[in-house]
Parts: sequence; C-alpha cells; structure tokens
Amino acid sequence: MAARNTPHHIDVLIIGAGAAGLFCGAEAGRRGRNCLVIDHAAKPAEKVRISGGGRCNFTNIYTDASKFISDNPHFAKSALARYTPDDFLDLLRKHDVTWHEKTLGQLFCDSRSQTIIQMLLDELAAGGGRLQLGVSVSEIAQAGDKYRIETSEGAYLAESLVIATGGLSIPKMGATGFAYDVAQQFGHEIIEPRPALVPFVFSGADKEDFASLSGVACFVRAMAGPAVFDEAMLFTHRGLSGPAILQVSSYWTEGEHVTLNLFAGDAGDDLLKADKAAHPKRTVGASLEARLPKRLVALLGQRGMAPVDKKLADMSHEALERAGAAMSQWRLKPSGTEGWRTAEVTAGGVATHGLSSKTLESRHAPGLYFIGECVDVTGWLGGYNFQWAWASAAAAGAVV
Ligand code: FDA
Repeated sequence: MAARNTPHHIDVLIIGAGAAGLFCGAEAGRRGRNCLVIDHAAKPAEKVRISGGGRCNFTNIYTDASKFISDNPHFAKSALARYTPDDFLDLLRKHDVTWHEKTLGQLFCDSRSQTIIQMLLDELAAGGGRLQLGVSVSEIAQAGDKYRIETSEGAYLAESLVIATGGLSIPKMGATGFAYDVAQQFGHEIIEPRPALVPFVFSGADKEDFASLSGVACFVRAMAGPAVFDEAMLFTHRGLSGPAILQVSSYWTEGEHVTLNLFAGDAGDDLLKADKAAHPKRTVGASLEARLPKRLVALLGQRGMAPVDKKLADMSHEALERAGAAMSQWRLKPSGTEGWRTAEVTAGGVATHGLSSKTLESRHAPGLYFIGECVDVTGWLGGYNFQWAWASAAAAGAVV
C-alpha cells in the first residue's frame, strides 16, 4: 500500500473491471504498457458472469452501427469496424473456447460465462496487467499531463486514465454513476441515462389482464417510435417482457404507446378472411387458437377485441376487418418500465461529441478515456453490447 502522498507511478489506470475495462487492460498490456485495473466490487466482470442466462451472448455476427442507439448514430462505426466479431472469435479460438449460434446471429459460449471471464483475466495477465478488487476511488485530479487518482489503497499517478465503470443498470451488482460524475468533472455533457432492454409495467385493467396470463409467450411484432421488432413476447405479473418488448423498450419514452401485432408481419383481417373462406364453420376463437396461445385468445375475447364464440361465416367483412385491426394494431400504454432493477443496459451516458470516435479519448482532457456502457452507445439485445465493450476497449487499448 502506498503512503497517502506518495503516488504509485503507472502508465495506465483503468477504473472498472468489467468486460470493457479488463479487455482494455489486456490490449494495452500487449503493447508493453504497465496497466492496473481497479474495481470496487469483490469479483471482476459480474455482468459477464450472469449474461446470456449464464452462457454469455458475447457478440453478434450481424454487428454494425445500425444496431446501436446513440445521439450520434455514426459514432460507433470507427471502433466497430476496427474490432469485429471475427476478431473476438479469433481470441476465443486461441483460448480453446467453443461457442454456438442460438438465433439471429447471437453467439453464446458452449460452457459457462466464467470461461470468458477467465480468458479476459488470462489476457490481462499475459500483458503484465494487474487487477485489484475492493478498491474505491475518492478523487481524480489532473496533475500536469498526468492524472492523480486517490483510492482506498493509496494514490496513483497515471499517464492515461480509462473510465470503464459501466452504467446504472442493476445497482445491487455494484452499478454506479461514477463515469458520469468523472465526465462532468472534466466538462463532458451527459445524455440523460435511462433504463433500456427492460420489461414494461402496466396499471389498472391491463396489469390485471397481463398478470392473468403470466408465463404465456407468443411471437409478435412490437413497435415503439421508429423501432419494429419481430420476436417473442412474454406476459408477466407486472406487464410485458420477452425479447420483442426489451428491444422496443430502448426506443420507448415515458407516456408513449407501444403497438403490438399479434400476427407478427401479417395483417389480422387477411388471416381471418382467408380462414373464413377455407373454414366458414370455424369460430373466430378456433381460428385464432391455430396461431395464438389459448389463454391469450380467451383474453382477447374478454377484452372485446375478437368475438371468439362467433362463427367466421357469421362475421361481416367489416367485423373481420375491425377484429383483425384490433389484434394487429393493438395500442397499449405502459405505465413505465421495471427500471434500473432489471434493465439489461443503460441508454444515454457520456455524450459522444466530447470523445474521439477513433480512440474514445476525451476532447476536453487529454489522456482521459471513456469506454463501454458508460458512453452514449447502446446496443440491441443479442450480444451487441458486449461487442461494443470489446470494440471500444480495443480502440482505447491501442493508444493509452
Ligand atoms: P460493466 O458494468 O460490465 O463493468 C463495470 C465495472 O465497473 C463493474 O465491475 C463495476 O463493479 C465497476 N464499477 C462501477 N462503479 C464503480 C466505482 N464507482 N468504482 C470502482 N468500480 C466501479 N450484453 C450482451 O452483449 N450480451 C448478453 O448476453 C448480455 N446479458 C446481460 C444480462 C444482464 C442480466 C445484464 C444486466 C446485462 C447484460 N448485457 C449483455 C449487457 C452487458 O453486461 C453490458 O453491456 C456490459 O457488461 C458493459 O460492460 P462494461 O465493462 O462497460 O460495464
């Protein structure tokens, strides 16, 4: 431990031992830089451990800037182009880590997420980088062309300081707004952080109806603002979840509607009309049950969205159109989201106009870098957020 006023000299200090921080330390270490990664938590990369249901959806083969949300949609392009999913796969091959594609280009480990954490720790150690856990930071100040960082383990004088402390999601796992505080200290703008990839909650009759279907899943098209996602949706005790809902939640703003098409890309009235021609004696309910879960069909009947007991033959053209539209343009108003407690990521963060897109270095404070989730770059569900963590870490790791 250093005496309080005698700082340890170090090339690169990285605060945050998550995906981005560990990988940045590994990359910088490979260039011969003397790196220390510190974290206030007792264990490194806890979000990697719990990610992807314990098998870490570590990248997506369809990565490109269009899968990310940011005030500046072009910002992520440079880093993503220079460190690609294939680069990360090469690293996995080097460590004999095997993987599989689950769906939509999402790559998961064959074994537990711990394999990825161990690989990151091995890479950090291979470059001579060190990791210190249970360390808190009390103060950061510029000292000439260096940074002086006061920590619970003494002071450090670093040529480069990398902030990789993530966003606000899941506070019980140690998430803090530390990166935003540091950014503001050095004159950066913060794009209001908001929970993203998060379930919706409802109130009143909607809440009761959805709770009665808790556990029921179906494939839908979910739409909010400019976002359109065809994926699975899940009813929960508090509202709606599942991939389609998590995806649109990142684009949703308080007070807005969400629109659901229960027939994904198809028009409900076309399906009912085709069924009427082929099976006129069928009830509307039976026709719907061929495509939707039985309990959902019953709820649609109760809510007056579809006359489930009526025979298709007895339905007029207009009545079929009305029912079809009610189910394929089902407008719902969430009362909110489950918030930071369950949000997979934080949208918003350190504004990109204050950072170099090539190196993630601050435009206000040379030698200071922001990487990973704390930056205003938020990926879709499906491995994109880790790919941003690797790519932004590699961009900074090449120059720190
Ligand atoms: P990350 O949050 O990983 O790391 C930040 C580190 O900084 C932590 O170790 C924390 O303890 C530390 N820290 C915070 N404040 C500090 C302070 N004041 N002082 C010192 N240290 C501090 N993404 C994906 O692509 N595929 C997936 O499968 C999943 N799955 C998933 C599941 C769940 C449940 C969650 C919550 C999230 C995901 N994600 C995901 C998102 C992904 O985990 C996330 O985008 C990355 O972990 C971000 O990496 P960072 O390194 O930027 O932050």
